[in-house]
Amino acid sequence: MKTILVTGGTGYIGSHTVVSLIENNYEVIIVDNLSNSKLEVLNRIEKITGKKPVFYQISVQNKDEMRQIFEKYHIDAIIHFAGLKSVKESVEKPDLYFSNNVGSSKVLLELMDEYNVKNLVFSSSATVYGVPKRVPLYEDDPIGGCTNPYGQTKVDIEILLNEYYKTHKDSNIAILRYFNPIGAHSSGLIGEDPQGVPNNLMPYITQVAVGRLPYLNINGNDYKTVDGTGVRDYIHVVDLASGHLSALKKLEEKPGLVIYNLGTGKGTSVLELVHAFEKANKIKIPYVIAPRRPGDVDENYANCDKAWKEMGWKAKLDIVDACRDSWRWQSKNPNGYDK
Ligand code: NAD
Ligand code: UFG
Repeated sequence: MKTILVTGGTGYIGSHTVVSLIENNYEVIIVDNLSNSKLEVLNRIEKITGKKPVFYQISVQNKDEMRQIFEKYHIDAIIHFAGLKSVKESVEKPDLYFSNNVGSSKVLLELMDEYNVKNLVFSSSATVYGVPKRVPLYEDDPIGGCTNPYGQTKVDIEILLNEYYKTHKDSNIAILRYFNPIGAHSSGLIGEDPQGVPNNLMPYITQVAVGRLPYLNINGNDYKTVDGTGVRDYIHVVDLASGHLSALKKLEEKPGLVIYNLGTGKGTSVLELVHAFEKANKIKIPYVIAPRRPGDVDENYANCDKAWKEMGWKAKLDIVDACRDSWRWQSKNPNGYDK
């Protein structure tokens, strides 16, 4: 496989994956509508890799514009990151989330069919497991029962991919269920750059550290966990990126439709992550205990044996690496990609 279409390639996970792809000699074509990312990302990718990827500012929902890409390039595989991802916003604007996330996936499948593109890697999420009945979570655990429209879009797309596969048995589809991506490229040139006040824990911590926010709200300390704060499986974004290269290699074996959890297999509480950040960077993070967020679960972490057995992939970096790298990115770019 040589030429990879990367939708959402200027986003947080997409940009790190594009760097890994270029470093491994893939030809990359990025399609992103920049609804949640900046053009500056392309300059940063060039600084790291010496190569500026081909870029089209297009919405994947726009079939006519997308068709031009399929006409122009011979695409060996697609990595489909494009999508809206804010749980909070999805509750306010469910229609937008269904039309954007499910709608763009439908367009891609129609074009894959039309242009005979056989290989797809899809960004799913641990959120598809809903409220876990047990942890760690295995790929064959039931999915559904999501508490928000964002999660439901991921379930709907997984169903759509299964349906597509039933009628396209010669296609190869890797559904990757990410746990909680944190960290940044070790150069500090690319990283997570949320718009407005961050919803997620690590960018909130780094914005407190850099002085953009006064203190962290820890949402709940009465969960059934080691110290009462929520437990998640934090995976370094560079490990996550390498998971996509492993998935591309796996697709070359023509496995049909496969599903992998991408996490570390280890749960970390909010307080443990805060303390790891403080220790790694020698910065105090002031916090208060705030109410629980609606829909949050006690514990969520992965069993990742399947990805190791079938793709030879496992996470190599730990939360200390991620805390150090997230801080390097934020301290070098206090306002993200906006100077
Ligand atoms: P991100 O917002 O940084 O990247 C997504 C990119 O998609 C953005 O650059 C955005 O501009 C683009 N996009 C959105 N809709 C588009 C459309 N219709 N056409 C073209 N481009 C469009 O998010 P991320 O954290 O890099 O996440 C990437 C993918 O992984 C998403 O599908 C997300 O749902 C999924 N995911 C993320 C997490 C996480 O915690 N970050 C966890 C699980 C799954
Ligand atoms: N938290 C805080 N304070 C904050 C932000 C988060 O205490 O300011 C806590 C949460 O309560 C939770 C933990 O930190 O216990 C992690 O929260 P995140 O928002 O960083 O991550 P979530 O696990 O809630 O959600 C993430 C992605 C979702 C995805 C889900 C899948 O953001 O898109 O993982 O498990 F659906």
